[in-house]
Parts: sequence; C-alpha cells; structure tokens
Amino acid sequence: MTGASPRSTHAPHPAWLPDDAFAAIGRRRVVVAGDGALAGTVAEEVAAATARFGGAFSRLEVGDGVADAELVLTLAPPLDEPIETIRIAAGSTPSAGSTDEGPATRHDDADESFRFTREAGSVVVQAPTDIGLLRGLFHLVRLGEAAFEGPDADETHAPATDLRMLDHWDNVDAHPTMGQVERGYSGGSIFYDNGFVRADLSRVERYARLLAAVGINRVAINNVNVNEHEARLLTDDLGDVVRIAAVFRRWGIRVHLSVSFASPIALGGLTTSDPLDRDVAHWWVRAAARVWDAIPDFGGFVVKADSEGQPGPFAYGRTHADGANMLAAAVEPHEGLIHWRAFVYDHRQDWRDRTTDRARAAYDHFHPLDGAFSGNVIVQVKYGPLDFQVREPVSPVLAAMPQTRIALELQVTQEYSGQQRHAVYLGPQWSQILGFRFWEAAGRDGGSPTVADLATGRGKAAEDPGTGTWRKPAGGFAAVSNVGDDEFWTGHPFAQANLYAYGRLCWDPTLDPGALLDEWVSLTFPGEADAVGQAVHAVLDRSWETYEQYTAPLGVGFMVRPGHHYGPDVDGYEYTPWGTYHFADRDGIGVDRTVRTGTGYAGQYPSPWRETYESLSTCPDELLLFFHHVPYTHVLHSGKTVIQHIYDTHFEGVARVERMIGAWSAVSTLVDPRFSERVAERFAEQLRSATEWRDQLNTYFFRKSGIADERGRSIY
Ligand code: GCU
Repeated sequence: MTGASPRSTHAPHPAWLPDDAFAAIGRRRVVVAGDGALAGTVAEEVAAATARFGGAFSRLEVGDGVADAELVLTLAPPLDEPIETIRIAAGSTPSAGSTDEGPATRHDDADESFRFTREAGSVVVQAPTDIGLLRGLFHLVRLGEAAFEGPDADETHAPATDLRMLDHWDNVDAHPTMGQVERGYSGGSIFYDNGFVRADLSRVERYARLLAAVGINRVAINNVNVNEHEARLLTDDLGDVVRIAAVFRRWGIRVHLSVSFASPIALGGLTTSDPLDRDVAHWWVRAAARVWDAIPDFGGFVVKADSEGQPGPFAYGRTHADGANMLAAAVEPHEGLIHWRAFVYDHRQDWRDRTTDRARAAYDHFHPLDGAFSGNVIVQVKYGPLDFQVREPVSPVLAAMPQTRIALELQVTQEYSGQQRHAVYLGPQWSQILGFRFWEAAGRDGGSPTVADLATGRGKAAEDPGTGTWRKPAGGFAAVSNVGDDEFWTGHPFAQANLYAYGRLCWDPTLDPGALLDEWVSLTFPGEADAVGQAVHAVLDRSWETYEQYTAPLGVGFMVRPGHHYGPDVDGYEYTPWGTYHFADRDGIGVDRTVRTGTGYAGQYPSPWRETYESLSTCPDELLLFFHHVPYTHVLHSGKTVIQHIYDTHFEGVARVERMIGAWSAVSTLVDPRFSERVAERFAEQLRSATEWRDQLNTYFFRKSGIADERGRSIY
C-alpha cells in the first residue's frame, strides 16, 4: 500500500488562502511602498485583492503616500525608529501594480520582523526588509477585519528563529517501493513526475504562497535517501533546481538539496568520498561554488549519512563531525548550511540481543561530538529517539549538545499517525514537545529552557546560573512535508491543518494549537467559520490522543505492518533487524530501558527526568512501556491494570472515531461538496482501520495474557 491518492484533474484546493481570506484588505484603500522583489509580491497580492473586493491600490515610493489610505504597507528603517518616519503625503502619483522581480538577491538571516500599528482604524505595517513586509501582509490576512477593529495598537512581530524549514522526501524517479514521494500520502510529487522535473511549476508556486503565509522560509526539495538520479540535482540537473528556486524566491523561501555523501564517487568519478581526502574536499568546494553561482540565495545541503544504508564517513573510519565539517568548509564561503541528520542507528540488529537498544543510538553517536561541529553545521534531531512514533519521550540528544546548533525534526507527513487517511491533528503533540523542559519536572516553569528554546537559541538556562541565559546558537526547525499533487494537497483535507500549524509553531512555538485550529478554520472556511469551527474542534482537538488509544499502547510504539507502516501487526517488527521491539510474552510487555536493570537509555536524560523515567513509581503512564517491562497486572497511576488499560483504550478509541464522524456530519453540507466527499471517504477508512486495530490488539493481548476484559466486551 503506497497511500497515493488518485491524481486529480481539478484545480488545487485553495487551502488557507481562498480569495475571501483577502476580503478585509481588498475592501480598503491600500498603499504599498518600497522596493525589492518581495515588495513586488506584496503589491501583486494587494492589487488582486483590491480589484476583487472594490478597494483601491497604490504603489508608491517610501515616503510618498496618500492621506486617506486605510492600510499602508511600507519598507521602513529599523523598527526601533519612531513610526512618524513614514510620511503620508497627499497628491503623489501611484504606480499601480508594479511587479518588479528584482535580482536574485540574498536574504541571509534577513530581518523578517514587522511593526503593526493601528490608529483610529487605519493600519500601518512597516518592515525593515521586503521579506518582513510579506510576513506583515499575511499577518493582516490572518487577522481579517479584526486588523482594522479595536483599540489603537503598536506591536512588533518577529519569528522565534530564522530557520523554519520543510523537507520533501520526493524522488525524481519514482522509486520501485517508495514511489514518487517516500512516505507520501497525497498523490504524486509537486516537483517531479516520473523521472523529470515538471515543466509546469504552477503548483509549486501556489505551494510557495501557502508556505509564505505560514512563515516557512526554507525548503529541501528532494528525499534524504538520495538515489542515483536525485544525486545529479547537484550537478548535471542543477538547471532544474534553478527553476524551482526561482519560484520559491518570489515568496521568500530558500531552496536546499539533500545530497549523497558518496557524490564524489557517484558524480565525480573519484575512488573515495573520505572526508579527509583532499580531492574529495576539492570536489565539494567546486560543486558548492557551481551551485551558488547558479543560485545565489541557495540554502545548503541536507545529509543523511551512515543511516539505513546511506553512505557516510564511517566507511573511512571518520566521525560524523569529520564528514559534516568537510562539507561545511565547502559551503562556508557562500554562507551555506549543512543540516546533518542524527538519525543514525544499526538497522541490522540481532533481535535476540536484548542489550543493544536503538533508542540509545543517536545520543551515543552524537553526544561525544558536542563542540566538534563547525558553526554552519546544524545537527538535525528527530523529536524522539526512535522514529516519529505517536508517543515517544523527547530525544535526549536535544539536551546533550549545548555547543552544537540543533534543529528539532518533526514529521508533518503522517507516516506513523494514520497516513492522512486518519484525521489526526498533530499540533498538540508538537506543542507538548516544544514546551518540554529537560531540567524541570512536568508542569514546572523555573525558567530552564524548553525544547523550543534549545532549537531557537533563546531562553534561560537552569544550567548556567552565572549568566542566567542560554545563548546557544540556533538550529531551528525542520519537518517532513505532507504535500503532494493531490487536489487537497494533503490527501485528508484535515491534514492541511497540520501543515498550517507546523509553520505557525516555527514562527512562535508558544502558540496554542487550539487557537491555530481557529486560525486555520477562519481562513479556510471564511463564510462558515463558526459552525465548521465547532465541528473541526470536535473532530481534531483530541484526535492525536484518540489515534494513540486504538494503536500501540503506553508508548511501546510500532506494532505496524512492516514496510509501509499502515495498519496493525503486533509482531510485524518483533523478529526483524530493525530494533523496534515490544517483548510481549504471556506474563508482560515493554522494554526495560532503565539504568539499573535495562539498556541504560533512561540515563541519557539530565535530572530530574532520568530519575522520573527510571522509577516505575514515577514514570508517566503514557511512556510506561517505553521504559519498563511490566506484568499485564501492573497497576498504572490511573488505577487500571495494563491489560485493562489496553482493552479500555482500544474500545474507547473506536467509540471516539464514531463520535468524530457524527460531529462532522452535522456540518458537512456547509462546505464544498468535494471537500465533504473526501472527508467522508477518509472517515470510513479511519473507522474500518481503527476497528481492525482494536480487534487485533485486544485479541492479541487476550490470547497472550489469558486475562479477560472486566467488562466482558467482544474480544476474539
Ligand atoms: C523513517 C522512514 C524512512 C525514512 C527515515 C528517515 O525510518 O520510514 O522512509 O527514510 O525515517 O528519516 O530517514
């Protein structure tokens, strides 16, 4: 099962940018002032909106203006200067609809901030750069009429980090088992079609606009597993990357490439890719120079090395720091970045060996290298130690490398969370990860850094009372995109909300996921936001927890069908080399990862979490089986036994899916019938699949344990 949706001939759904989302701007007299390619993009957006909704649009020089403008978007000096520096003078001549493309200018760590002021219902957005102006425009779009209502205001907005990235696992050649998009559940690729970069990149343009509206500013355009054809994007096929980069540039987004560590051999005809070999280093220097020559604002390279069969420095007895730093030196003259993934483990493990623990691997490999990476290397760390499971403890690597730029890697594509057939809103999961504090007990805020602080280089450190601050270089955020050439972009229309929430959380990791759903609803369903919003909340608010209820219990993970990872198979990975086991037998279940009797993984956490996870009496229920092997009769903090918890959550999970379907059916006629049809089709599959999960899991554990359900429900 590859999860591809049928290719649609319909125009792509507008997602969170339907024309009506621009009504509040479009009805007003608007001035856009300033140069730069992105000011041109802003002007085009405003011109289109005012033409559609009857407002008026003027394109002026900074300092010119019209006295009666209701909205001014203007480039302006640095934001601490007083707002009066913008002169709004009457009588100047507008130059309507200018669409200057401008040169392919760099906007390295460009200031994306903007200032929003409202005085007596008139709004001024000023930004020091054209990209800030674009951010300001979409801030207004999100606010709608509310931008112009309410008391006078003067606010400055800026992102938490400059590094807000989406990774595409798209292949140029459709891969024999992984297809056009690895772990893609939304049709084909928007970039590639069976061996070629698409001639028509209009979908990419629409996508770039959607991403700009949520603040994404970097995109890696090919799979981290780099096959032969994809490797050539770096060299022979660079012209295709130039075309794609030109589309993203208009929306303030820089392009990155995933590259193969073995490129000097595969593309350069060398006999080695040893990072300490001079010819290898020179080959990369020349390759990088060609790329930046063609694409001056190119972002950098993403590397999956020594992972799941991808080549890397281990073959030459070198470290990850050796490998990453050699590439870093090649891109450094261009101010490029190396995103080096920490997803490194032994995928050829012997399941008979209970001492090897895949969860330990990333920390064991990378923690000793803290401080050894160059300043333009970002170590990209998956949020959990295994692989994007519905519940994992937060990866201890994020806390273990204070001298390294760390990016938090999330997965918007729902590989292990229902593959965009199940409605699962991941905002609450991400928000919980971003807010996690390694140095404090749950729920406390004594000022120690959150995961978001560690990724953005902000916040205070409990560890550094001397300075009181944790000035860590930023690595930012990266996530695997869930987009394809599907009519709704994301297969399940509700999965659009995940992409939306990811972008917004990158901008501000403290945003409330429920409030982000409200934003998504009011933009996506402008006419019906109240009724639809209630139903969307009823469906999505607790959908992550619901999915967890009917799948693998208590943090043990996996239990999915091998290969494609969809649907239940309790023992699917149990006797494989992949290192993802649950160890269920007739007496109990779970992985002992304690220091005292297990693999020692719990000891990778700082206090207090190493003690919290180590002890059966304090380990949170939802992660119990990740850290401990317990009898089925073990009593949880909830008061239930493990076996009764398994039965209850699996029955409850399916019942909740039935209630979700009921909640949506009340409003399904209020939205576009195609949207409703797709949602209905996905709900039918979610209910079927959840029922299958419930019955297989309950039956498996009933047969293993011999313990009956207290409530006598049907188990087979
Ligand atoms: C998961 C996923 C793979 C992917 C890998 C990665 O294991 O199943 O398809 O290549 O993650 O993150 O590199």
